[in-house]
Amino acid sequence: IKYSTAKFVTSAPDITRLPADEGIEVAFAGRSNAGKSSALNALTNQKLARTSKTPGRTQLINTFELDAEKRLIDLPGYGYAKVPLEMKIKWQKSLGEYLQKRDSLKGLVVLMDIRHPLKDLDLDLIEWAVGCEIPVLALLTKADKYAQGKRKSEVLQVRKALAELGGDIKVHAFSSLKGIGLTDLAWTLDDWFLGP
Ligand code: GTP
Ligand code: MG
Repeated sequence: IKYSTAKFVTSAPDITRLPADEGIEVAFAGRSNAGKSSALNALTNQKLARTSKTPGRTQLINTFELDAEKRLIDLPGYGYAKVPLEMKIKWQKSLGEYLQKRDSLKGLVVLMDIRHPLKDLDLDLIEWAVGCEIPVLALLTKADKYAQGKRKSEVLQVRKALAELGGDIKVHAFSSLKGIGLTDLAWTLDDWFLGP
């Protein structure tokens, strides 16, 4: 699949404003500042999604279309302590609704900073996906921050921890800055969009 043809479709405050729940959708989820928007931009080789040093940049559910049947979704991050409680509740609600109700969601990319992966909310999300039989690709982001040896050992450790959950879970190191893991990401998405 040529991801560089992705086009922005819409920013939705909740799932009622999303495109029709048809075709296949793959969502990028993770803690605030994990690098979701950067990963989408690296994959599509475009500045599609807004990135920021300030956690909580993506507050809406942003949809990008590959074609009429295939969409990429940039979800708002979770777990950022400093946003006002009211906003937090609102986003977590739209995130929860998206995950539970979206039938076209066929794969979940869970992004975690390689320096602090597998926080409680990450595990909750991955366990939920396994329970719904949604395949998961865990990307350990900002892998450029670690030398290769440390990077590999971290991947193995996370892989081992997640293997205990059963389910279809892959784990790879990723860096949008250095292009690490980009082919792993594209291949996995090809599988999800096109089937085996
Ligand atoms: P929210 O939308 O706030 O949930 O954040 P996000 O997960 O979309 O993160 P975003 O892509 O905006 O990136 C957050 C910060 O991490 C930015 O300052 C990026 O420049 C930085 N960053 C993202 N990817 C990488 C990477 O691969 N390596 C390094 N070193 N920094 C990165
Ligand atoms: Mg973002």
